[in-house]
Amino acid sequence: MRSLNEQFELIRQSPTVSLTDRIMALKAGGKQIISLQVGDPDFGTHPSIAEAALNAMQQGQTHYGPSNGTLELRQAIAHKLQRDEGVSYDPASEILVTNGGIHAYYTAMQSILNPGDDVLIPDPSWATHSNMATMLRGRVIRVPAPAENGFIPHFESWLKALTPKSKIIVLNYPSNPTGAYPTRDYLQKLQDFAKENNLWIVSDEVYGSLYYGEKPTSAAAVDGAKERTLLVQSLSKSYAMTGWRVGFLAAPAQIISNALKASQNSITCVAPFIQKAAAFALTDPAVQEVTASMRAAYARRRELVLRLAREYESDRVLVSPSMGAFYFFLDMRPLKMTSVEICEKLLDDVGVALVPGSAFGEQGEGFARLCIAASDEDVEAGFRKVIEWAEKQ
Ligand SMILES: Cc1ncc(COP(=O)(O)O)c(C=O)c1O
Repeated sequence: MRSLNEQFELIRQSPTVSLTDRIMALKAGGKQIISLQVGDPDFGTHPSIAEAALNAMQQGQTHYGPSNGTLELRQAIAHKLQRDEGVSYDPASEILVTNGGIHAYYTAMQSILNPGDDVLIPDPSWATHSNMATMLRGRVIRVPAPAENGFIPHFESWLKALTPKSKIIVLNYPSNPTGAYPTRDYLQKLQDFAKENNLWIVSDEVYGSLYYGEKPTSAAAVDGAKERTLLVQSLSKSYAMTGWRVGFLAAPAQIISNALKASQNSITCVAPFIQKAAAFALTDPAVQEVTASMRAAYARRRELVLRLAREYESDRVLVSPSMGAFYFFLDMRPLKMTSVEICEKLLDDVGVALVPGSAFGEQGEGFARLCIAASDEDVEAGFRKVIEWAEKQ
């Protein structure tokens, strides 16, 4: 048999796959599982957004549309970026509508990465960030983002990671899996560092609207950033629209021109009726209120976790207050077990599903990701079980 694409041998299968099989088997056997592993909002998409899609379908918007996205949606995106991030983009040349944030990330990386380029990615981070770079034949260099530094890389670590072949820095703030995000000053310093070393910054901000303290600054919003930043966003998390598959890339025009070719030659376009609904979601004032109310619900659950952490004062499950997204990255290193062992045992012993921290990189070993995009009851019951289990080990 002829050989296959060898890049895929370099991409490890996520430990979550075997865990998902285990969860399904346990559920099939009648066991109650508290699912705190999936990064998908427990809220439904607001009915007014669904109605906008339905109307568009009924009006015949069921054919191919422009590959870079409808002008209406690109204008809505430009409006949103000005309103929420204070950055201005030209809807005609600097925005591409994509099939979710993951596809925006793909088109961004495909537009700038040549085989053999080095890509600097914090560790821990969402596995797709490094897998995509590997798939496109880049070389991934992980930059430790230790818990002890609030899950933000020490600045010296960027310097240490730099090689003559370094071309791209990938950021994701607020972070999956830690919820951390840096200060504006830190981002400015990093942008200056990128400028000095002629690097692109690909910034995945799909959790940009989910924060619990001061609003995070977009990596594109600091001085001199726009010309070297590729901004990845999506409606998935902020508008509870994960299944709609719509997001966007905002970047300098020459990047969008490459990204458009990557998109056109892989997906043709995002369904026009989905784009109609997305434009409505991004601009309708009542929908922005809905987003704010979801953020308030996540904030309430975050407080719940922090209150329980204070109540138990466990020295086996160490909880850093997550600042954004809907995750807690629980430090369970005191148990001296691997993340996979922890998650498998949690599932088998007390029926709680978390994601092993090692799925996010070496720095995640001994950690487990808990997602609060679940009911208050599940978050409380699940977190109590995790701590009470850990205390017995
Ligand atoms: C950091 C990060 N980026 C992108 C995505 C994908 O988002 P989308 O559903 O918009 O493709 C996820 C999904 O979990 C994520 O955690």
